[in-house]
Amino acid sequence: MAAIIMDGRSVAARLKETAAQEALALAQNGMMPHLAVVLVGENAASQVYVRNKENACKKAGIRSTVLRLPENCTQAELEDAVRALNEDASVHGILVQLPLPDHLDEAAVLRLIDPDKDVDGFHAMNSGRLMNGQRGFVPCTPLGVMRMLEAYGIPVRGKHAVVIGRSNIVGKPMAMLLLAADATVTICHSKTENLAQIARQADILVAAVGRPRFVTADMVKPGATVIDVGINRVDGAIVGDVDFDGVSEIAGYLTPVPGGVGQMTIAMLLANTLDAARNRGQ
Ligand code: GUN
Repeated sequence: MAAIIMDGRSVAARLKETAAQEALALAQNGMMPHLAVVLVGENAASQVYVRNKENACKKAGIRSTVLRLPENCTQAELEDAVRALNEDASVHGILVQLPLPDHLDEAAVLRLIDPDKDVDGFHAMNSGRLMNGQRGFVPCTPLGVMRMLEAYGIPVRGKHAVVIGRSNIVGKPMAMLLLAADATVTICHSKTENLAQIARQADILVAAVGRPRFVTADMVKPGATVIDVGINRVDGAIVGDVDFDGVSEIAGYLTPVPGGVGQMTIAMLLANTLDAARNRGQ
């Protein structure tokens, strides 16, 4: 039986509409929510991501400022820029687009962002809060996956969720969110033995490996929900980490790429920025 394709565009459109209404309500109370994005260098994918974020903010009535720094900027220049945004009371959310050029120390920069403006949820304070079950900013992509599961009424409690990938941006926070929602969680990665056998046990399978069409039909339990977080460029086309054609014959639910999780990520960024603005207003 063919899988139900989870339509990230329409779910995200509803969430963006809610964000727009909330932004309007804040503006009517004299607060203009404001996201500052720091973009270093010329990475082509990053340019596209940042443009999409700017456009989404504009549509939602959220102010966005993009601070562009040259490819050869120094660590000190980048850190000064982040410090200035921390101190700028008009800025509610700060996002440093990753990856940074190789000569820059990413961890040191992320550590510097004010955790209360860290709308990406990458600061150790926010990952610690997530780990401890405390309120804080949660990374947008895994948060978007949880919203997508909710939107389609996919039960999580007591289910076996397998996350393939252990990045700080997706895999680890994804596992924490699923655990917080009472799933039984297994994290797999490039060194996992018998990966296909483990993946086949999943009721919810999240692919965040960064390898095109890595998850094939033989790795999926019939009827499982398969969430594809991958964005890979192959011969000019964007493909996910899941072999869509094969897996769609086996899975119960499946997110497409594009048009799946990617749309949710931006909607969550808007939601986090609004939260940051509201938190400041308190
Ligand atoms: N690069 C790829 N995804 C992301 C993201 O969600 N946030 C940031 N800051 N950089 C990214």
